[in-house]
Amino acid sequence: MKIAILTSGGDSPGMNAAIRAVVIASNYNGIEVYGVKRGFQGLIENDIFPLSMNDVDNIAELGGTILKSARSKEFMEEKGRDKAAENLKKQYIKGLIVIGGDGSFRGAEKLNKLGINVIGLPGTIDNDLAYTNFSIGFDTALNTVLENISKIKDTGSSHEKGTIVEVMGRHCGDLALFSAIAGAAEIISTPEKKLSFETITDKLKTNISKGKSDNIIIITERIYDIEELRTFIEKKLNLGIRTTVLGFIQRGGKPSGFDRLLAGKMSLRAVELLKNGKSGRAVGIRDNRIIDVPFEDVDKVSINKSVEYETLDMLL
Ligand code: F6P
Repeated sequence: MKIAILTSGGDSPGMNAAIRAVVIASNYNGIEVYGVKRGFQGLIENDIFPLSMNDVDNIAELGGTILKSARSKEFMEEKGRDKAAENLKKQYIKGLIVIGGDGSFRGAEKLNKLGINVIGLPGTIDNDLAYTNFSIGFDTALNTVLENISKIKDTGSSHEKGTIVEVMGRHCGDLALFSAIAGAAEIISTPEKKLSFETITDKLKTNISKGKSDNIIIITERIYDIEELRTFIEKKLNLGIRTTVLGFIQRGGKPSGFDRLLAGKMSLRAVELLKNGKSGRAVGIRDNRIIDVPFEDVDKVSINKSVEYETLDMLL
């Protein structure tokens, strides 16, 4: 049996650990593994090559993805997808593991309909897939944010200045919420619980009146223009405040132990599913157990994150 693996969409720390685990598990099961360069684009361009145990030696600790990643426009077209499926079939590759986020899963689902057995692994720092408690890369990104908040606090406290810190997450506030709690930030605003400029300013004013000057305000990207927020606060409170957009540093770095283990456990399940002829499923983790659900349930199967939000919010 032959299977292929690709990484797609925004990269996330732990993708390499997953690639390595897929090769090891496949090797154990007598399955040949092929790597695909630059996600779905590599399938279209037939950039498909054998991946040996030697190729994945020592990669678990590396950030990024050795297979490269891309967002393919050609794959959005039916013609591109037909070509991708055809290239796999020509090499007698029956199964495909796609590591990526929701967009990548939608692509995988389409290949599934063209007769390729496809399994998805959640690889995104955003943690924005409802069916799984955690995606590969989220924990590492969280730790990167925490490390940076800590540095911002050093200078913020020396100068008695507050800082608005913008973190990634696309439309999901998990990275902001988890880092605000673990990093002991003062104020948080996310897509799920978006505060108005006035509310943020009022909270800040209260904190300052109690003697807290170096407030950390964590916001999820895209919900507002960070500079507009800064200007609003500065005018209202007549004080200076700093802004830091953490940006792409959140996508890099050595994966945490948690992410490497998660990648390993999920990869084992992915190979097992393909070996058993299963297709169209996404692997995840819920209540500390590895699970797999049909692609169509990836957004539907809620793990009730809102309950978690309310509980964690109390710690702020
Ligand atoms: O999905 C991961 C992510 O890093 C988001 O948090 C961010 O909004 C986006 O990707 C950036 O994407 P790109 O790599 O296309 O600029």
